[in-house]
Amino acid sequence: MSHPSPLSQPLILRSGSVIKNRLCKSAMNEAIATGKGGVVRQFEVLYKTWAEGGAGLLVTGNVMVDKRHANEPLAVAVEDRNDIRLLALWARAAKSHGGQIWAQLNHPGKQSPKFLNDAPVAPSPIPLASNMFHPPRELTEEEINDIIRRFTNTALILKEAGFDGVQLHGAHGYLISQFLSPNHNQRTDQWGGTLENRMRFVTTLYQSIRAEVGNDFAIGIKLNSSDFQKGGFTHEESIEVCKRLDALGIDMIEVSGGSWENPVNRRGEQKESTRKREAYFLDFAEQLKNNISAPIMVTGGFRSQQAMEQAVTSGAVDIVGLARPFAVDPQLANTILQGKNYQSAVVPISTGIKKIDEMAIMEISWYTDQIRRVSEGLPPKTKVYGALSAFAVLYRFWKRGQTVKRVRT
Ligand SMILES: Cc1cc2nc3c(=O)[nH]c(=O)nc-3n(C[C@H](O)[C@H](O)[C@H](O)COP(=O)(O)O)c2cc1C
Repeated sequence: MSHPSPLSQPLILRSGSVIKNRLCKSAMNEAIATGKGGVVRQFEVLYKTWAEGGAGLLVTGNVMVDKRHANEPLAVAVEDRNDIRLLALWARAAKSHGGQIWAQLNHPGKQSPKFLNDAPVAPSPIPLASNMFHPPRELTEEEINDIIRRFTNTALILKEAGFDGVQLHGAHGYLISQFLSPNHNQRTDQWGGTLENRMRFVTTLYQSIRAEVGNDFAIGIKLNSSDFQKGGFTHEESIEVCKRLDALGIDMIEVSGGSWENPVNRRGEQKESTRKREAYFLDFAEQLKNNISAPIMVTGGFRSQQAMEQAVTSGAVDIVGLARPFAVDPQLANTILQGKNYQSAVVPISTGIKKIDEMAIMEISWYTDQIRRVSEGLPPKTKVYGALSAFAVLYRFWKRGQTVKRVRT
């Protein structure tokens, strides 16, 4: 008789609410919203498909809290109740098979590309190394408080629409991680300097949202285990931030890493131990587990059922996050839970041209295309045409850039 997979165990959150199993579709920008960040019916189709696929938790792609500041051309933005009916249909579809849906909330700060934003903002006026972005302007205290109000307002609207929770995007170099990083945050007021001050933005954000949504609405965070940059946000600092959020009552911490300047979700750069265990951030999760009591999710690199089960059985990981595998195989959670010894077919995508292969956009574009197909009721493609997909997406980005610029000076 085969034993049930440890991944089939329910996860009980602090609030008492239950995630039906240990598999989560991690955030992937769906890139199907209208040019102005509006919700469309295709979200319902997409999330119904993922719900049927059996995951316990679906985290949405990042939802902007301010329409003027987007990280990508067709990301959703929620700042008023205009789309509440479409949001409700989206949430209902995602919950139709007993799973939960959390919306990932984001403000890109200075990581808002030139073709969308002439006037990005950041904790300090320090430009990014890439020429994809305009140099940012330093946020005033009043603007910081306004952004905190916007996150809170967006969370409240999503709660009203039927979402089970929100996840703060504190990873990948966006505004929350800009505040945390000593490289990017060189403020001398209460929002910068010491770690205590650099984490004030995220802790205030958490407390502001919690005060409005109550304890039965989940609030999680996706946080970098470090930003892997010299003089940047370190492992030790990341643990301190997690400890603080844990003490404040956060419902889940998802561990991630990297940014546009320094993506780490690439295979070639792995240690042997990581290669064996597949996931990139397991060592950090183990360390974190000794320091906090909130559930931990690890995302990045999981491809086989065996590695996922080991991660959960070891106790370091409470819930396994998967992104790219879900884009090409929406049914994967069912396959795993039926004990079919799942192995994802996802492999690094290559055009054969090194310069293009090194661009994060290259990987993202292929999966974005598959998500769009599912949202239109089509099956994802299984055969990868790397070069074709890269050129198609660069063209789409250029075309969208012509119509959707949000902030102009
Ligand atoms: C198409 C695509 C879109 C993504 N969008 C987001 C996003 O909106 N928010 C986020 O936190 N991570 C985003 N990610 C990163 C994933 O959540 C995940 O951390 C990363 O892909 C590593 O996990 P994987 O190896 O299971 O794919 C995206 C990844 C892809 C491929």
